[in-house]
Amino acid sequence: MIHKEVAQIISISKNMVVLTGAGCSVESGVPDFRSPSGWWNQIDPRTVATVKALETNYPLFHSFYTTRVNHLRKILPHAGHAILARWEQVGHIKLITTQNVDGLHQAAGSSHVQELHGSIKEFRCHSCRKATDEEAFVNERPCQCGGKLRPSIVLFGENLPNDAWQRSMAAIESADVVMVIGTSLQVHPVNQLPFITKGKLILINAEETGQEDRFDFFLRGKAAETLLLIQHYMEK
Ligand code: APR
Repeated sequence: MIHKEVAQIISISKNMVVLTGAGCSVESGVPDFRSPSGWWNQIDPRTVATVKALETNYPLFHSFYTTRVNHLRKILPHAGHAILARWEQVGHIKLITTQNVDGLHQAAGSSHVQELHGSIKEFRCHSCRKATDEEAFVNERPCQCGGKLRPSIVLFGENLPNDAWQRSMAAIESADVVMVIGTSLQVHPVNQLPFITKGKLILINAEETGQEDRFDFFLRGKAAETLLLIQHYMEK
């Protein structure tokens, strides 16, 4: 059973890095982006997730991210997030690097987390970059400089946070295992990250991504369900 083999590999790992995408949050009730029920099948990302959208159609930009902010208030981590936090506590996971902006890994207790696409839990002025809070953003209060407020997430075309990128690259380069969970691997440059490792590559995803053959193990399934099954074999 492939889950048992993966469980054995994780059990002896002391330097595992986990890369997650939106599929890792779906079982918490957060839509992903490119599945049939995903955000980008409801709205064109170019109209809301770009700097141009923010600067030329702020009402739509503000409405989209306010919807996501309000939705996340009711969201909790699932059992899979808790297992990843436990694997960090017992010394298997060194780092979780995530494309997700929802803060669910941290909410589940993971402390070594790098947010490659920023965080929707933090807000700033688009012009002067002054930090602000959710209440000011949701209530559309302009910055003192007159600039528009936005979540501190990476919009398409913007650079990734350099520190998070460098730390994630370094961790993956020296990892003995890299586990990728819930991502279509469609978005550059994160989709290149897993393959710089010399360690074992494990993919957990609900659907094929077209890159399965680059992984040592492909566990087709849901994130929480699959992590629970692996954890079950680790306890045997
Ligand atoms: N468990 C595991 N995988 C799942 C689950 C689940 N419960 N539900 C969906 N998936 C899979 C989907 O099959 C899909 O392959 O997760 C993947 C999610 O892919 P995307 O929706 O493309 O999300 P992601 O890869 O994180 O997107 C990357 O694109 O729009 C940008 O900034 C956004 O960070 C995001 C980036």
